[in-house]
Amino acid sequence: MRRPPVFQPLLLFLSSLFSLSVGGDLLTPTQPLRDGQTLISAGGNFELGFFSPVNSNNRYVGIWYHKVSVPTVVWVANRQHPISEPKGSLSITANGTLVITDQNSTAVWSSGSSGLTNPVAQLLDSGNFIVKEAKGASNGPGSFAWQSFDYPTDTLLPGMKLGWNLTSHLNRNLTAWTDASDPAPGYYSMALDVEGDPEIFLLGGAHRLWRTGPWVGQRFSGIPEMKTYSMFTFNFVMDQDEIYYTFNILDGSVISRLIVNQSGVTQRLVWLEQSQAWSIFWFAPKDQCDGVSPCGPFGICDTNNSPICDCLQGFEPRSPTNWALRDGSDGCKRKTALDCRNGTDGFVTVNEVKLPDTSNSTVDMSLSLDQCRAMCLRNCSCTAYASANTSGGGCIIWTAEITDLRVFTFGGQDLYVRLAAADLGSASKHSHLSRIAAIVVGSVLGTLLLGWIGCCIWNKKRRRRRTKQAMSMLGTISFANNYINEGTEGNELDLPSYDLGTIVAATDNFSIKNKLGEGGFGPVYKGKLGEEQEIAVKRLAKTSVQGIDEFKNEVMLIAKLQHRNLVQLLGCCIQGEERMLIYEYMPNKSLDAFLFDKAKAALLDWQTRYNIIAGIARGLLYLHQDSRLRIIHRDLKASNILLDKEMNPKISDFGMARIFGGDEAEVNTHRVVGTYGYMSPEYAMDGIFSVKSDVFSFGVLVLEITSGKKNRGVYYSNRHTNLLGHAWYLWKEGNGLELVDESIGYSFPMAEVLRCIKVALLCVQEHPEDRPTMSSVVLMLGSESACLPYPKQPGFVATKGPFEIDSSSSKQDSLTVNDLSVTVFEAR
Ligand SMILES: *[C@@H]1O[C@H](CO)[C@@H](O)[C@H](O)[C@H]1NC(C)=O
Ligand SMILES: *[C@@H]1O[C@H](CO)[C@@H](O)[C@H](O)[C@H]1NC(C)=O
Ligand SMILES: *[C@@H]1O[C@H](CO)[C@@H](O)[C@H](O)[C@H]1NC(C)=O
Ligand SMILES: *[C@@H]1O[C@H](CO)[C@@H](O)[C@H](O)[C@H]1NC(C)=O
Ligand SMILES: *[C@@H]1O[C@H](CO)[C@@H](O)[C@H](O)[C@H]1NC(C)=O
Ligand SMILES: *[C@@H]1O[C@H](CO)[C@@H](O)[C@H](O)[C@H]1NC(C)=O
Ligand SMILES: *[C@@H]1O[C@H](CO)[C@@H](O)[C@H](O)[C@H]1NC(C)=O
Ligand SMILES: *[C@@H]1O[C@H](CO)[C@@H](O)[C@H](O)[C@H]1NC(C)=O
Ligand SMILES: *[C@@H]1O[C@H](CO)[C@@H](O)[C@H](O)[C@H]1NC(C)=O
Repeated sequence: MRRPPVFQPLLLFLSSLFSLSVGGDLLTPTQPLRDGQTLISAGGNFELGFFSPVNSNNRYVGIWYHKVSVPTVVWVANRQHPISEPKGSLSITANGTLVITDQNSTAVWSSGSSGLTNPVAQLLDSGNFIVKEAKGASNGPGSFAWQSFDYPTDTLLPGMKLGWNLTSHLNRNLTAWTDASDPAPGYYSMALDVEGDPEIFLLGGAHRLWRTGPWVGQRFSGIPEMKTYSMFTFNFVMDQDEIYYTFNILDGSVISRLIVNQSGVTQRLVWLEQSQAWSIFWFAPKDQCDGVSPCGPFGICDTNNSPICDCLQGFEPRSPTNWALRDGSDGCKRKTALDCRNGTDGFVTVNEVKLPDTSNSTVDMSLSLDQCRAMCLRNCSCTAYASANTSGGGCIIWTAEITDLRVFTFGGQDLYVRLAAADLGSASKHSHLSRIAAIVVGSVLGTLLLGWIGCCIWNKKRRRRRTKQAMSMLGTISFANNYINEGTEGNELDLPSYDLGTIVAATDNFSIKNKLGEGGFGPVYKGKLGEEQEIAVKRLAKTSVQGIDEFKNEVMLIAKLQHRNLVQLLGCCIQGEERMLIYEYMPNKSLDAFLFDKAKAALLDWQTRYNIIAGIARGLLYLHQDSRLRIIHRDLKASNILLDKEMNPKISDFGMARIFGGDEAEVNTHRVVGTYGYMSPEYAMDGIFSVKSDVFSFGVLVLEITSGKKNRGVYYSNRHTNLLGHAWYLWKEGNGLELVDESIGYSFPMAEVLRCIKVALLCVQEHPEDRPTMSSVVLMLGSESACLPYPKQPGFVATKGPFEIDSSSSKQDSLTVNDLSVTVFEAR
């Protein structure tokens, strides 16, 4: 059988179908593997054989995924020594050496001798190709005479180690391919540096391009989002014998790999079964602050500042001229020299940082943070200290300049920088207001909870009384621009409390026939207070642990909000274990019930849909800007839009909402909550949310309202895309009106419809900074003459094709099908 020697997607696949399998997953001394034959691991995960990269006729022995339809080579044996004709073979010698020979039977590659007597090579289901003694030996890694996992190429698979065996000095690192057609070691690599507190560096040649930061317990200091990825377990082992990093996947059905790509970016890719494509789950470097030490010694990098570089408190630019020209790489110098002997030095705390370069630091895991501070004060060359473990304990001390310091919006650690007494008092000219605000928000939320407890006590007394105490506590706290301490009305929580008996009577003892549905954390019932007033009662399930926090959140938030496009909370009922919210009743239920039901969709003519869109926009604008609290809803979707008698939309379900301070641009969360299909890329992938993530969800919602189709679950296979992509392509081609739901009929104001689609496309653009704010959205929707910018490609448009992975493709398609709000990545 002669096959063309080119490694093309289909051919590779065919090769595995037609190849003569030698012995399943085993290679023995008597049976070499010839070009055209392959080994397949026992569970069918991986395949080993000869291949040619794209645009190359050279033949290499490699391992690739057997079950992944896009050819993806994860390991190459003879990456520097290709064979020019498809006539090579791979064999194992009688003493256990793997050898690749070319058409002239000349050895081009060998694995080194192992001295086995009865060797066999086996391709394991983990993707590891191993040599071991055929009989007697167990399958444990210790018994392998040789394994491909010890010689990674550009890919780290689950279970592989990136790092050192300190005894044998084996340095397992990743090196990118030269280019797509040549697997020879390229310019970029990723390796662990064992100096000081070990860190992993991305390198271009010998230059350091990015570092992970030291391991601080459950994650690297420079990758705060790591601990939100509950799909994976990450390990960092550091003992006498070894220092390495490794990861594993908890869900066996998920396929993921870490690579260094040919342009010097490290990426974690996950396989999307549904769209048959690799999707970029995470990558680095990401931003300007990710470069190694853009701000030099004692400088601090913050992407939210302009310029991004600043000096730490107590420091000033070394070369003010360069600094003014926005080159911070010279860094900063002390204003006042340290004064070690008099013992007057102190520390300034820098919050939410990526720890500075630890190559020259000293670590002592046995010290507490207090002991660490004492040790730093005693040592005259100590410049800073920090905890070596985010969960507490451990001590890192820097005794030289501190370099490559950056701050994160959320999720960093505290660093304590030593200053002379003279510099300690001066307030930082460099005020990280956003972080301060974040802390204050934290404490205010804490106070809100106190307020809620207050609410409970007050309910016990069953008196309608205003919780002046609780709220006056709030009144004393001021932060940012926009918080509560403004008008007098803000100091009162005017929320009626109902007693359980009333609610039981109103809902006919929570009769099943009064049940309206099941929310994220409990059932919702319809009820009637007296003769007239219809209510909806949301009853927190007793079993729902998660729900209690959301419940408190919702009570505190929504009690303060008044807007005709937000659902109105009438009161609460808290008695014993019961926690209930009482809302105005919405006879027309939720928007999704109309939108995605063929029969009911016809009831929504364009005018109604447009009113709904405009109403949601106004409600959201109120949340984002006009209310005294500034609120990000975080779970905007069709099922959270309720419709009153006149089909006016009202935003509901504030269980996930978050208050944010006036100066905070965005927040990073450890727990990503929301609903697939409506989540913005930066939120779903990095947990970063801001008003712009709500804007994204709003855009999705507008496209759904216009098209009558769900973003999730509908897949346009002709273009390999979802609703967002579909809408964008139609728009680009000038066929935007094709998107419009057939149920609307044919007579509708085309300009208005097109304007809505365009505004929606602006809202779902990939980059948050490109998306308009809700105030612009309201303006754009309302103005017939507004000249709107041209929308860029939306986020989350799955595409397909070999190695053509669009950074905007996502994992949304591969995940669960139900439409409930979900927590995607739970911390730890
Ligand atoms: C194989 O042998 C032939 C004839 O001796 C020679 O011309 C050719 O260069 C050899 N090829 C390789 C790859 O060594
Ligand atoms: C293994 O065999 C190869 C050739 O078959 C030989 O060159 C090598 O020295 C042998 N190694 C050991 C350890 O016996
Ligand atoms: C590290 O290398 C030494 C020497 O080759 C070996 O004995 C030891 O088993 C290796 N350690 C691990 C964990 O593989
Ligand atoms: C990667 O490992 C190889 C083999 O151990 C070594 O020669 C090379 O120097 C390492 N590269 C880096 C950047 O550490
Ligand atoms: C960090 O602290 C946690 C909790 O105390 C502990 O389980 C973990 O082992 C520590 N990590 C290191 C590297 O010491
Ligand atoms: C490497 O990754 C970056 C970022 O994900 C991407 O822009 C670039 O095109 C990739 N390079 C290659 C050769 O795939
Ligand atoms: C520190 O002590 C020295 C010697 O006692 C003294 O000259 C110096 O002024 C002191 N510095 C400060 C800042 O107090
Ligand atoms: C660490 O210290 C060495 C020797 O003092 C110095 O050459 C090197 O630049 C330092 N590295 C960093 C990252 O500060
Ligand atoms: C200060 O700490 C460094 C690093 O731990 C150490 O090398 C040095 O000897 C210490 N100096 C003093 C005076 O203790």
